[in-house]
Amino acid sequence: MENFHEPVLLEESIAALNIRDGLVYVDATLGGGGHTRAILNTGKKIKLISFDQDEAAIEHCRNSFGENYDNLTLIHDNFSNFWTGVALQKIKKIDGILFDLGVSSYQINEPERGFSFSLDGKLDMRMNNKSERTAYEIVNKFTYEELKKIFFEYGEERESSRIAKGIIKERESKNIQTTLELADIIDRYTFSHQKLKAKARIFQAIRIYLNDEINVLTTALNDAVKILNPGGRLAVISYHSLEDRIVKQLLRFQEKVCICPPSFPQCVCNKKSTLRILTKKPITPKQEEIARNSRARSAKLRIAEKKEVE
Ligand SMILES: C[S@@+](CC[C@H](N)C(=O)[O-])C[C@H]1O[C@@H](n2cnc3c(N)ncnc32)[C@H](O)[C@@H]1O
Repeated sequence: MENFHEPVLLEESIAALNIRDGLVYVDATLGGGGHTRAILNTGKKIKLISFDQDEAAIEHCRNSFGENYDNLTLIHDNFSNFWTGVALQKIKKIDGILFDLGVSSYQINEPERGFSFSLDGKLDMRMNNKSERTAYEIVNKFTYEELKKIFFEYGEERESSRIAKGIIKERESKNIQTTLELADIIDRYTFSHQKLKAKARIFQAIRIYLNDEINVLTTALNDAVKILNPGGRLAVISYHSLEDRIVKQLLRFQEKVCICPPSFPQCVCNKKSTLRILTKKPITPKQEEIARNSRARSAKLRIAEKKEVE
């Protein structure tokens, strides 16, 4: 698997972590190991713990470079459990954590994973193949109301209602089995000229819902803030507006010193500011990176530093 995944915003995210000797770092989303390898190749004397909930990513990295580094630990788990994984290594605090969200090119390009609307595969879309429920259950068992809500909330698709109705109608005669069948239904029930975008949005919505990506991200970011040492760095690369909004709002909330309503004469909330945001605007890839790797197109990197909190 030569082209498992081309890392996005590589230089920028490694710089964001401010890697220094003697400290502990976490790569929450190992994927093809591009960022993990770059962290190790800084040559600093660090400990690195890298997570992925996809066994294929762990296997690939273990076989291609993992065994060459005795300061690297690979853990097959959801990053919402990263605190436990870190604690099992007898580590209490960390000094930097990177989240490079979403799916890897490997996952998209393997038809049987069911993430791509242009490759024929079963309706799967599980990031962790040990999970029981697949996209098939959502597409074939969920009600019109449930489908519409998922497409609207997680895909921000304007034609959610029409597409949900189309799915309900089509599955009356036979269950929808494959990615291409679903893609064809979206094509036929979308009126606008944005059929490609509609397919991307509906597939994204099902994937986010199925893998519980929003809750998992919120939990993990809150935990990351707690487990960082003062001066420690949190770096997050997101690929769509929904994810980026969560990251932006969470960082802003953590940075705030007070959350009392403006009408209060004095502060009573006792909120502490835990983070300093280092990117007022997110870092985006340079044109040459986008030209080389179209997946980088929508990437946004946000960085924050943990404050001293008494
Ligand atoms: C964009 S890729 C990361 C690519 C990686 N930075 C590289 O350079 O190759 C995202 C990876 O995160 C993993 N992932 C997504 N959500 C996860 C979660 N909640 N827990 C653990 N891994 C997750 C996916 O399985 C995928 O392999």
